[in-house]
Amino acid sequence: MWSKFLEAVILSGCLTQLTHAQSLPAPVTSGYSQTDLDRLWQSVEQGGVPVVKANVTRVLEPLANFSVGPEPPRFRPAYLQATTQNIELPKGFLYGVSTAATQVEGAVKEGGRGPSNWDWGCHNNITVCNNEVPDVTVNEYYQYKQDIQRVKAMGVNAFSFSIAWARILPFGHRGSPVSEEGLQFYDNFIDELLKNGIEPVATLFHWDTPLNLMSQYGAFLNNSIVEDFDNYASIAFQRYGKKVKTWFTFNEPHVYCDQYAAYPYNSLYTGGINATTAPYTCVPNLIKAHAVAVQTYRGLISEGKIAKGKIALKHDGQRPIPFDSNSASDREVVERRADIYIGIFSQPIYVDGNYPKRVLDTIPASILRRFTDDEKKIIKGSADFYAIDSYATIVAKTPPNGIEACASNVNDPNWPICQDISDNVSQYSTQSGWAVGAAADPLSPWLADTSQWLRYQLNWLTKTYPTPGGIYISEFGFAEPYEYLRTENYQLAWDERRSNYLLDYLNAALLAIHEDKIDLRGMLIWTPIDNFEWNLATQQKFGLQHVNHSTPGLDRTYKLSFFQVRDFFKQHLVG
Ligand code: BGC
Repeated sequence: MWSKFLEAVILSGCLTQLTHAQSLPAPVTSGYSQTDLDRLWQSVEQGGVPVVKANVTRVLEPLANFSVGPEPPRFRPAYLQATTQNIELPKGFLYGVSTAATQVEGAVKEGGRGPSNWDWGCHNNITVCNNEVPDVTVNEYYQYKQDIQRVKAMGVNAFSFSIAWARILPFGHRGSPVSEEGLQFYDNFIDELLKNGIEPVATLFHWDTPLNLMSQYGAFLNNSIVEDFDNYASIAFQRYGKKVKTWFTFNEPHVYCDQYAAYPYNSLYTGGINATTAPYTCVPNLIKAHAVAVQTYRGLISEGKIAKGKIALKHDGQRPIPFDSNSASDREVVERRADIYIGIFSQPIYVDGNYPKRVLDTIPASILRRFTDDEKKIIKGSADFYAIDSYATIVAKTPPNGIEACASNVNDPNWPICQDISDNVSQYSTQSGWAVGAAADPLSPWLADTSQWLRYQLNWLTKTYPTPGGIYISEFGFAEPYEYLRTENYQLAWDERRSNYLLDYLNAALLAIHEDKIDLRGMLIWTPIDNFEWNLATQQKFGLQHVNHSTPGLDRTYKLSFFQVRDFFKQHLVG
C-alpha cells in the first residue's frame, strides 16, 4: 500500500526505524484501577520523555472584547471570480472547519484519559513525530471556548471534530470503565458549538487507537475490534445523539490502515502478518466495525432513543488522471488506483457489499479476508451519504515493469495498485513536463492546488458511488510552502498559496453544483488552526490561524486565508 502518510514517514526519515525500541505494556483486562492506568502511562514515558502539561489548565471563557482585528488588504482581483460571483450555494449548505482530537486537544493525561497509539509512538520513538510529542498541541481541551469564538467570526455553520476513544474508555474495550469526565468534555464542547449556532459534526475515530487495545490484541489487526468499536460508538451515540445529527465513524480508512505498515503498529505483527499484508488485515475489520456501528446507530434512532441523524465515513484518495492519456496502460493504472484505493472501502458500502473486481483479482484472500454473505448484507448500504477528504489530484503512470508483472508479485514495491511511485515527480507532473498544479510545502509532496480537477473527482464519485444523501467534501486544505521558516507576523499571516487553493477549490465547487448538477451539500476546511500534523508535528501547517508556541497562552492570529474564506461564504451562502 502507499499513501501520503507513508510518503511523509519516508520523508521524515522514519521508515528505517521499523522496529520499536520499547515494548508495549501488558494489557489491562480486568480490575481497571488507577494503578493500571498509571502503568499504561508509564509505558508511554518509559523511554524517558515525560508527558507535559500546558500552561493554561483551566477552561478559558470567551473574550468579552473580542474582535478579528484589522482587515487584510484585498489581494485577489474580483475578475478572477467573474464566472461564479452570482452563484449561490444550495440552501442548508454545510460550511465549516475540521479538526481531530490528537491534533488539537492536548491534555492527554488529564480527565482520566487513557493513552493512545500516538502518545505511545511519539514518546517512545520521538523522531517519529519530528522530535515533538502531542501532549499539548494547541490545548483545545482548555481553550475551546475561545477557539469556537474565533471560528464563529468566519461565519461557519458547522464544526467537525473527533472524539478521542481513550478519553471515553481509557482502557478501550467493552466492559471496561467509562470516564464521565471524558464524556463531559465533549458535552461541554458540543454545547458551546450549539450555543454559537454552529452544528457539531462528530467523527468517532480519527486514527487515535487506545493503547490498551493494541497491547491486548493488535487493535484493527484483530476482529475483536468490531465489538469494541461498536461498544464505544454506542456509548457516544447515546450520550451525544440528541445533539449531534451528523456522524462519521472513521476518518480516512485507507490512510489509517496504511499506518499498520509502520511504527508502532509493526510491533503487533503475529502469525505471518508483515508490513505489506498488515494494512489489508485491517481493511475488513475496519469496514465491519463501521457497518456494525451504523446498525447500532440506526437501531437507536428507530427505538427513539436519539435524534434522527445521518452517518457515513470519511473516504480518502482520488481518481488520478493518466500521465499519458493515449496510453491504455496509464488509463488502466487510473482505474486500478480508483478501485484499489477508494473502491476497496466505497464499493462494499455503496454498491454491493463486496470489493471491486480489481481488488479481488490482485489481493489474495489469504491477505484480504473476503466478506461472508451475512457480512455483505450489513455492509451494503451502511452510509446515508458520501463523504470524501479530497485534497488533490495526482497523476497515474505505469511502472517500468508493467502492470501485470507488478500485480502478480506481492513483493513488488508498487503492489497492489501498480502505479509508478518510484519518484514523486512522475506522480505530480504531467507528460508535458508541467506540474499538475501549484505545489504545497515540500514536506507534503502529495499535495498541490489541483482544483481544476475537482469537478472530475465529484462527477466520478457521485456516478460510481451514488447515494440519495448527496456528497460532502469532509476535508480539503493546504500546507503553505515553507511557512515554518517564517518568523515575522506579517509573513506568517500572508498565506497566499493556501488562500488561492481554497478559493480556487471553492469556486470549482460552485461550478460543480451549478453546471454539473452535483448534489454537493457541504465543505469542511482542514483546518481552523495550525496543529499537530502527525509525524510532521508542528512543522507542517494547514491552519487558517497561526499559533505562537512561545507564548504561555499559545496565542492565535488569523491568516489571510481566514478572511478570504469568510468573504467567499458571505457572498455565496444563502440563509
Ligand atoms: C487528515 C488530517 C491531516 C490532513 C493534512 C487529512 O488526511 O485527516 O488529520 O492533518 O489530512 O495532512
